[in-house]
Amino acid sequence: MPQTATYLTGFANDFATEALPGALPIGRNSPQRCAYGLYAEQISGSAFTAPRHANRRSWMYRIRPAAIHGRFEPYAQPRFHNRFDEIAVSPEQYRWSPLPLPTAPTDFIDGLFSMGGNGGPDASGIAVHLYAANRDMVDRYFYSADSELLVVPQLGRLCIDTELGRIEVEPQQIAVLPRGVRFTVNLPDGEARGYVCENFGALLKLPDLGVIGSNGLANPRDFETPVARYEQRDGEFELIAKFQGQLWRAPIGHSPLDVVAWHGNYAPYRYDLRRFNTIGSISYDHPDPSIFLVLHSPGEAEGVSNLDFVIFPPRWLVAQNTFRPPWFHRNVASEFMGLVHGAYDAKAEGFVPGGASLHNCMSGHGPDAATFDKASKADLSKPDVITDTMAFMFEAPRVIRPSRQAIEAAHRQRDYPDCWAGLRANFDASAP
Ligand SMILES: [Fe+2]
Repeated sequence: MPQTATYLTGFANDFATEALPGALPIGRNSPQRCAYGLYAEQISGSAFTAPRHANRRSWMYRIRPAAIHGRFEPYAQPRFHNRFDEIAVSPEQYRWSPLPLPTAPTDFIDGLFSMGGNGGPDASGIAVHLYAANRDMVDRYFYSADSELLVVPQLGRLCIDTELGRIEVEPQQIAVLPRGVRFTVNLPDGEARGYVCENFGALLKLPDLGVIGSNGLANPRDFETPVARYEQRDGEFELIAKFQGQLWRAPIGHSPLDVVAWHGNYAPYRYDLRRFNTIGSISYDHPDPSIFLVLHSPGEAEGVSNLDFVIFPPRWLVAQNTFRPPWFHRNVASEFMGLVHGAYDAKAEGFVPGGASLHNCMSGHGPDAATFDKASKADLSKPDVITDTMAFMFEAPRVIRPSRQAIEAAHRQRDYPDCWAGLRANFDASAP
């Protein structure tokens, strides 16, 4: 498949794009007759009455309305679900090696593997999944009515054809797919692996910057939304829906990616994590990791997110008289971490690209013994630069309850908590 996509820049702007000249009506959203015999259809991602700054919707001008498809019946993909109450949740610290790549032909949807979550489609909360796939979605389209999807590739590119255009992402980029928008995923490199966070809560947005000022962290102009692109294709296809925590399948006789023009502010987008403007301490001590916030889903309490998406990108470490790796800590929040590229500065080994860790509410964690030892002896007279790294965290205010399959997986590192066993008591009351 040729890889061609063009993008509009900005975060949730009121975009307007057409693949054929004159396909977008001027002024009115639903004229009596649309150009080219198209149907007008609105998709709303917020309540109709949401205040203007939070109101998200787009108008599509398409060959057929979304209502046209066959009857839904359950679709069995038992590894992809929202069952967060299967097992009692231990406060143990968890870590996993990468999800093995499939040996049988497996597409993006069938390659999803649920790790855990909280809340659900009728509430707020998140679900965390991994994917490992080795074939394109053939004649098959998907949407989630339950959630906004944040996709973090770790291995291989994804070519995501959506109703609103084509998004291409590679490792160190992310894609955000709005609730309800239909798409199909092709794998230009033949294999792909990565992470998906389902956001059941408020739509992801850029954080306010407070005293940082008007620039910094993820800048709005680096977010890219695709231009309109359509296919006119008839055949015996499948429409897979995620609805109320499970999958459904309906036959569909045409491609639903038939939107010739659209306008609005509810659309998929991508972002290159390498463009993140990292802010940090230039004197002593660490700021809290919220300084690395890329996007967040605001929660009900002021300042408490339903989901924080945080990255740990390449950066300079210059703080003086400071333990430079992340400190030991416990949080009221729960933290699911992944590694996209390189190495993570708080672990000497075991946390590898494609792997994952989970430190739930108030479970102590931090650098392993080897990292503590090395950092305690480091020469702080010089700055240090971390180059090869891209770690991230999905952070949630509620416990990320692991799935049974995550706990029982052969690739879970059952000895992970032992990484702190070598931290000796160095206390000596006679040696201040
Ligand atoms: Fe942490």
